[in-house]
Amino acid sequence: MITPILIDCDPGHDDAIAILLALASPELELLGVTTVSGNQTLEKTTANTLRVLELAGRADVAVAAGAGRPLLRERFVADYVHGKTGLDGPALPPPRGAAVPEHAVDFLAARIAEADERVTLIPVGPLTNVALLLARYPEIGDGIERIVLMGGAIAEGNVTPAAEFNIWADPEAAARVFASGIDVTMIGLDVTHAARMTREHAERLRAAGAVGTFVAELFDFFSLFHLRQYGIDSSPIHDAVAVAHVLDPTLVATERRNVEVETQSELCRGRTVVDLWRRTEREPNAHVGVGIDAERFFDLLLPRLESLDAG
Ligand code: BDR
Ligand code: CA
Repeated sequence: MITPILIDCDPGHDDAIAILLALASPELELLGVTTVSGNQTLEKTTANTLRVLELAGRADVAVAAGAGRPLLRERFVADYVHGKTGLDGPALPPPRGAAVPEHAVDFLAARIAEADERVTLIPVGPLTNVALLLARYPEIGDGIERIVLMGGAIAEGNVTPAAEFNIWADPEAAARVFASGIDVTMIGLDVTHAARMTREHAERLRAAGAVGTFVAELFDFFSLFHLRQYGIDSSPIHDAVAVAHVLDPTLVATERRNVEVETQSELCRGRTVVDLWRRTEREPNAHVGVGIDAERFFDLLLPRLESLDAG
């Protein structure tokens, strides 16, 4: 059975690897990719998406640009992690192609409406486009099988002590998504930090060809941030875990729990308050990632990335 998916992203080193994993997976049909402001400006995340698809020889996959800033908050880009271009490290040429003229929100709605089956949505950036989709097309949930998002954390933060970047960047949008009633899975930092790409993985990929070398060069740059910040010579590949979880739901263990997003406090802005120990009567609204089989994640990821160089 082939699962139709849409990826909403902000490449972003790990976003790029998530897209490549989807392209390398015959179990998935990538109906299109939409972009949002996050790791870098919308202009740069859109260009980066096109560059990655072109590198993989998949310029046929349509790209639509979406929101250039969060719903209410000021735009903040993570150039201290992803560099000036949003994809610093590898020397990729500028894109030859362009995004389709449609706004990402209308593009997502059209792809979902015309799909033969309910679509799985994989948002791996701030949730602005998804919140706008829910607002503009209130019935859209009927066509969405589930949302598997990368964002949040049970017990840590990476942009502040309290919050993960994607949720912090647009907390109002994230709150809207968790409240949507759609089947939501949260792949947060607790899970993604437990499956890190190592130098050995990167060297193996570098030997594979142009795509593998690109991923290894992403690692070379991305790992600098993790070395500076955490003192580790390995990198989480956050967004690729969300795609991997759609491919193999046994890789990530999940618990059905209530998740609320903090939007009022400045100190805890964007915190995903996960009721892990059921301290409230609030109804569960998400499947929360609580553990990952890191070895099997890389057993899935690495050969698939290598396969992109074999064709
Ligand atoms: C998330 O934030 C971004 O920097 C990454 O691309 C990932 O989606 C991790 O916190
Ligand atoms: Ca991302």
